[in-house]
Amino acid sequence: MIDTDKADKIITANTSSELPPNASSSAAQYTQDELVRIFHEDPERLKSLADECCRREHGSSVYVRGLIEYSNFCSMDCTYCGIRKSNAGAARYRMTPDEIIAAAVRAFGEGYRTFVLQGGEDPFFTDDVLATIVTNIKKQCRYEPAITLSAGVRSYQSYRRLKEAGADRYLLRFETSDPDLYAKLKNGESLSRRLDALRSIKALGFETGSGFMTGLPGESDETLCSNALLTQKIGCDMVGIGPFIPHPDTPLAGTAKPDLERTLRAVALVRMLLPRAHMPATTAAGSIDNMGREKMLSAGANVVMPNIGAVEYKNKYLLYPGKICLDEEYHECESCLAGRIASIGKKIDYSIGSSLR
Ligand code: SAM
Ligand code: FES
Repeated sequence: MIDTDKADKIITANTSSELPPNASSSAAQYTQDELVRIFHEDPERLKSLADECCRREHGSSVYVRGLIEYSNFCSMDCTYCGIRKSNAGAARYRMTPDEIIAAAVRAFGEGYRTFVLQGGEDPFFTDDVLATIVTNIKKQCRYEPAITLSAGVRSYQSYRRLKEAGADRYLLRFETSDPDLYAKLKNGESLSRRLDALRSIKALGFETGSGFMTGLPGESDETLCSNALLTQKIGCDMVGIGPFIPHPDTPLAGTAKPDLERTLRAVALVRMLLPRAHMPATTAAGSIDNMGREKMLSAGANVVMPNIGAVEYKNKYLLYPGKICLDEEYHECESCLAGRIASIGKKIDYSIGSSLR
């Protein structure tokens, strides 16, 4: 069971007064016990209240972010992750800086206004390399798009360099708020290091994204609710939540059956805590249930992130088995997504979708 005091102390110690309070002025305040009660009480009502809250804050827009998974090399060995360094079976790839820039520029020409560059913790992508990529995308796209980086834990100086190069947003999920579980999943890495990185990201003025997986082995309902509270304490502008899906070539193979309902309730709880945050309907949700993304968009989510990279790379970024949309060019994904979004009474929106904070 989670030691909430411990998690509390960690976040308090790592969020100094220079950080703004949570992203919403109208966010509800709950204790962990209250959230656990709400989590169980009336799930359908919870999801429908979250949907209402989302439509009130964001209208019927579902923002599109173009995702570029630029490398699956990783120096980390997270036990849950299919591209961990010890997975000798993973076919590795690394996009060149020119390929990354070209993918963004092409999608910009087709209407995309936000790009998310995500990769494993690949030493090739030094500060200089990432900064050059960011600067070039900005320049070649008339400084219009917002650029989000998701390149793992780095130093304050590194984040500052990337911010100065023009990166607008940074995504770094904390994965779980339980420090012991975190250390177990990440070979002794400390949660406080990750939260410290989030503090740097926030202090530098990035729009800050974090989040967690649901259903990790060892996660209790208390952990899940504490995860939701942690997103509020951090003051996330963006929150990514997805079901943990065991990968057969990792130490956690076969440990848990992914449970979409658990993920949906987590999304709904976070929507109640952070009404103004942007929350993606994650690919992992769509991968365990054909209607997973629609269900998420009806329980508080308001963002989709189609992969705009080449098919030859897409099907190598395999964090978990059963990942969807591996063989489709992104134009096919776009029309599929537009239809899915329309089916739940929302509309696809290509605008920049900045933080409402
Ligand atoms: N290296 C960066 C980092 O660690 O933040 C970004 C890449 S990492 C692969 C992106 C996210 O994938 C992680 O934050 C984690 O939540 C998610 N992920 C990894 N393995 C997963 C799995 N087996 N099931 C579901 N999500 C997974
Ligand atoms: Fe590095 Fe998953 S272990 S991205």
